[in-house]
Amino acid sequence: MERSRTRLEWPGRAESAEAAVTPPGSTLRPSFYFDPGRHTLVRGDNLEALKCLLPTLEGTIRVIYIDPPYNTGNGLLYNDRFGTWGRDGDRHGAWLSMIYPRLLLALRFLREDGIFFASIDDRELPRLRMLCDEIFGEDNLVATIVWRKKVVRGRGNRHILPQTEYILAYARDIERLPPFSEPLTKRMKDEYGHRDERGPYKKIPLAKSGTRHSPRPNLSYSLRAPDGSEIPCPTHQWRWSRETVEKKHGEILIEKNRNGRWTVYTKQYLRSEEGTERERTPESYYDRVTTSDGTREMKELFGEVVLDFPKPSRLIRDLIAWTTPKGSSDPVMDFFAGSGSTAQAVLELNAQDGGRRPFFLVQSPDPIGHADFTTIYDICRARAGKVAQKLAGLGHSPLPVCEYRLTPIP
Ligand SMILES: C[S@@+](CC[C@H](N)C(=O)[O-])C[C@H]1O[C@@H](n2cnc3c(N)ncnc32)[C@H](O)[C@@H]1O
Repeated sequence: MERSRTRLEWPGRAESAEAAVTPPGSTLRPSFYFDPGRHTLVRGDNLEALKCLLPTLEGTIRVIYIDPPYNTGNGLLYNDRFGTWGRDGDRHGAWLSMIYPRLLLALRFLREDGIFFASIDDRELPRLRMLCDEIFGEDNLVATIVWRKKVVRGRGNRHILPQTEYILAYARDIERLPPFSEPLTKRMKDEYGHRDERGPYKKIPLAKSGTRHSPRPNLSYSLRAPDGSEIPCPTHQWRWSRETVEKKHGEILIEKNRNGRWTVYTKQYLRSEEGTERERTPESYYDRVTTSDGTREMKELFGEVVLDFPKPSRLIRDLIAWTTPKGSSDPVMDFFAGSGSTAQAVLELNAQDGGRRPFFLVQSPDPIGHADFTTIYDICRARAGKVAQKLAGLGHSPLPVCEYRLTPIP
């Protein structure tokens, strides 16, 4: 008997799933082979391109980031209006039929420890979330990152000024996904204002803060102050057991506070005994850059804004830096490449930490009426070239970029 599960249905679902497995009608020119020592740009429709790349790249990609059309209904330069709009129209089914086979393929490209990120806004968020839950598995949802994309104030929209959009993050297998981390900020490092022979440290109260229920018996005991007096735990329990306190007594400080009461601290060192600096876990709210930073980058590179609303490369660079080790050669993929912000992110991150992460980008040659660029693909290629050239000028050695074209099989 077929197991019935809650899932998203729309007219055309079965046909769109078929589209992920039917053989491609095109081939890549020149013929594609995997070289971890270079970046890859593919010009053409991403469904066809993914099917052509799959035999070589299946199970090899560490990070996929996509920024698909949001189905805004606008879309002057590329199609961002799916299905039929209006009161009785169905705009979501057509968008789902577009994205579904691409997501099915995305899953197959990911390595066992791979991570998938998808930018989206309120319009298709609920449907994308349901579809990704089904494809990647609900338990593999890492987070819905909220990105504060603009800082606008005052009057405008009738009700609420929209300032945020989202990045869904799914693991290929949450059990195999390594922890994410990033460096502490300067302000955080400044908190390590004390120092002993092991280096800088900050003081953390040994008393556990927070709710009072069910203290663990091995964590509630009293300690002895240097003057011999007893120090009862001021909250419901300590953070360390008596055994740990005894074992790590060099990391314990007992000092009198301003009220003359004995207070117990542990030393939290900035560096581990091996010398690695402490890092932190990234948070699900991201407000370090806005869309205007993306626009500014375009102006810096091209002297003008050749494509509207590019993602700021710092956003994508941070996602990749959180998820891949420093200096790594983990492959990164973006098959809705647009202006190539992911190319810039990978090139710059590699330059920053000495990594050799290759990128695989796909972008269709959607025509744009620009004097220097015939298509969006041309912008993407030009951007990758400009950033690589700039980095080479600064003494870095970016990996070479190799281009492929989708060509219909006659
Ligand atoms: C939201 S934009 C991506 C913007 C990009 N992240 C940036 O920062 O510039 C989506 C892009 O996907 C491209 N695209 C849409 N459908 C595609 C398809 N079937 N194959 C390849 N590219 C596609 C569009 O041309 C558009 O440039």
